[in-house]
Amino acid sequence: MEFNPKIIKSLLKKLKETNLPFYIYDTLSIKNNCQSILSIPYKNKAVHFASMANSSPKYIKIVKQCGLNIFVNSVPHLRLAQKLGYKNRTIVYTSSGMDLPTMKLVNESRALVNLDSVNQVKLWQKNFKNKKFGIRYNIAGVVEPKSTRAGYFIGKNSRLGLTFDEIKSLENKHLVYGLHLYVGTDLYDVEYFMACYKALAEVGKYFPGLNYLDFGGGFGINDSDGKMFSFKEYGEMITELMDFYSKEHKKVLKLILEPGRIIGGNAGYFVCKVTDIKHRNNTQLVGVNASSVQFPRPLFYPDDSYHPIQVVGKSKNIKFNNKMSTSVTGCSTYSRDYLATNQNLPEIDIGDVLVFGNAGSYCASSFTNFLGFPKPKEYFV
Ligand SMILES: Cc1ncc(COP(=O)(O)O)c(C=O)c1O
Repeated sequence: MEFNPKIIKSLLKKLKETNLPFYIYDTLSIKNNCQSILSIPYKNKAVHFASMANSSPKYIKIVKQCGLNIFVNSVPHLRLAQKLGYKNRTIVYTSSGMDLPTMKLVNESRALVNLDSVNQVKLWQKNFKNKKFGIRYNIAGVVEPKSTRAGYFIGKNSRLGLTFDEIKSLENKHLVYGLHLYVGTDLYDVEYFMACYKALAEVGKYFPGLNYLDFGGGFGINDSDGKMFSFKEYGEMITELMDFYSKEHKKVLKLILEPGRIIGGNAGYFVCKVTDIKHRNNTQLVGVNASSVQFPRPLFYPDDSYHPIQVVGKSKNIKFNNKMSTSVTGCSTYSRDYLATNQNLPEIDIGDVLVFGNAGSYCASSFTNFLGFPKPKEYFV
């Protein structure tokens, strides 16, 4: 894999200053990704970046400059969003099982809130009389759900959202301000998105005060070739859908989207150095000065995530014709400390540098303290 030479040049410069593994982001790429989703022609829309994909303040500032709002699912991220200047309805707060103190904070923030269960709705209505709220609808039984990388987000195997019967049983339906759905992650199938969106929009007829339809994120990046979800066809179809339901409701409904991975997935790189080499079962085991706890996506999805690797640094020694099955291992004693498995890479030497691509989303933000390694620094170029 050959990444953008400008990025390689910048990271080599950084490597002169630090021996520690780090993330590096291509700011222009993040900006282009924001523009591409903002190009959806439907006018009354708000795009809320899902902060779980990357919660670095610098990253969020870039996204904010591009005109994106924010979607958060926890109090710390709500606080972060507020600190970075987001307020009121530029914040969407969606989570599940909120306790009363959390609900109070969310209410005080004046963010748009999407509630996850009948009990959550009751708690909200008891404490904040006549305050509008959104609800998350689990469209079970309406669309055949597809399993996505992190499992099911809709259907009978999903823990999230209210069922149709629960939705119909709600009191004070006029207070329901919005409907929320998250189809799943890393999807490309525009028809599937639309079938799910339609299922959500259809229940809108029960809510005379409906203002917005929040369709979540889930826009895919192809792991193997980095190909991104195209917003052209999607944009046309969702505009048609929104126009249709706006007519039904006799008002211009607001479209809310919550993209996460697509905004910076292809803009981030994880950089580490080779510290050891072993050969086992016809596989080159490459030890690096980093751990999967610092680059956790492969840890969370061991069989289901792929990050292309470029070998740089001591390039004159790299035998590019001599490719072999390679796994990259972390520098801990944890048996599952793998940053990559079964990749076809050239023969690698101690001292070479490995650059992992598609590392801009759910990588730095998934850092875990397990094993005790430090959180890698994040640089923006
Ligand atoms: C409710 C909700 N919205 C948006 C996102 C962002 O999703 P993605 O990164 O797949 O676009 C997530 C991620 O889990 C989510 O749970």
